[in-house]
Amino acid sequence: MEKRIAVLPGDGIGKEITQGAVEVLQTIGERFGHQFNFSYGKIGGGAVDEVGTPLPDETLELCKNSDAVLLGAVGGPKWDNLPVHLRPEKGLLKIRKELGLFANLRPTTYFESLAESAPLKKHVIEGVDLLMVRELTGGIYFGRPSERFEKDGQEAVVDTLAYTKEEMVRVIRLAFELARNRSKKVTSVDKANVLESSRMWRETAEEIAKDYPDVELNHMLVDNAAMQLIRYPKQFDVIVTENMFGDILSDEASMLTGSLGMLPSASLSENGPYLYEPIHGSAPDIAGQNIANPLATILSAAMLLRLSFGLEKEASIVENAVQSVLNQGYRTKDIAAEGEAWLSTTEMVEKVKETILQA
Ligand code: IPM
Ligand code: MG
Repeated sequence: MEKRIAVLPGDGIGKEITQGAVEVLQTIGERFGHQFNFSYGKIGGGAVDEVGTPLPDETLELCKNSDAVLLGAVGGPKWDNLPVHLRPEKGLLKIRKELGLFANLRPTTYFESLAESAPLKKHVIEGVDLLMVRELTGGIYFGRPSERFEKDGQEAVVDTLAYTKEEMVRVIRLAFELARNRSKKVTSVDKANVLESSRMWRETAEEIAKDYPDVELNHMLVDNAAMQLIRYPKQFDVIVTENMFGDILSDEASMLTGSLGMLPSASLSENGPYLYEPIHGSAPDIAGQNIANPLATILSAAMLLRLSFGLEKEASIVENAVQSVLNQGYRTKDIAAEGEAWLSTTEMVEKVKETILQA
């Protein structure tokens, strides 16, 4: 198989972690006789510094001409005070919108070997296996108006939570499709007791559920969902929710595995290319020190192999390699216990590559 992969390292630790994932993909390519061609593009604060925009047109073109996109992370204190259209996050929001990446899949799986370093009790998180499906190109992130204005001589502001029916339908339908290959349970999260958009979301979920009689649908209010994720996370399988609720709940869910440094994500569109990124950020405080955890990006590369290229066996080998290095006790700094030895970013990448070659 021959495929083109666009790599957008972005800011902070983005370069180190995407480099690790690229090497892992190359190792898979060598081992299984696939050719992956990597091309690099700029995004985020670095792109603002170099070419004056967080998402240059060339980057977008590169992505559109690729079979998949692998992204590191964007942002950092250096760019926090820029006007809103130049903020690194704007590059991320724009690429999601331009590539039509309407669904963000964030799996949260339990790592036995990390249970001791997780902030929650082992019996609560043991065996957790949930998939957050977050709507990614609508809702309050993109609704207009979003601006300051003056009302009765006072400063005022408005943001808008807007959805079309079709925007709801496609992401909820995808959640049901995904649930069919899992434990056939969808929890739709909303705030239907307050928001009109949520009442329409709930209705839409009910309508779609009729096409999936084999899948069980539950509704949960977002505040309750935030609580239930901590109280009894094993009740969840697929969670589907609108953009901002999903942003918040997915960070919360990451703590069920012990570290934000472990969680991959995939963003899907109607016709591809899909985009893969770790859910953690650019960690500017540790950038360039070769101590970042590359595993979330490596696991994102595994999702890429599976979802964009249909390479299920290769994807599983990468995921098993990550499990295996963790089971052997190898850690990066963020997941090491007090006083425990840890590997640098590049050493961890080497361990994963070695394990893949032995598999
Ligand atoms: C995420 C991030 C982004 C978001 C930010 C960086 C714009 O928090 O991917 O979850 O809010 O979507
Ligand atoms: Mg977030």
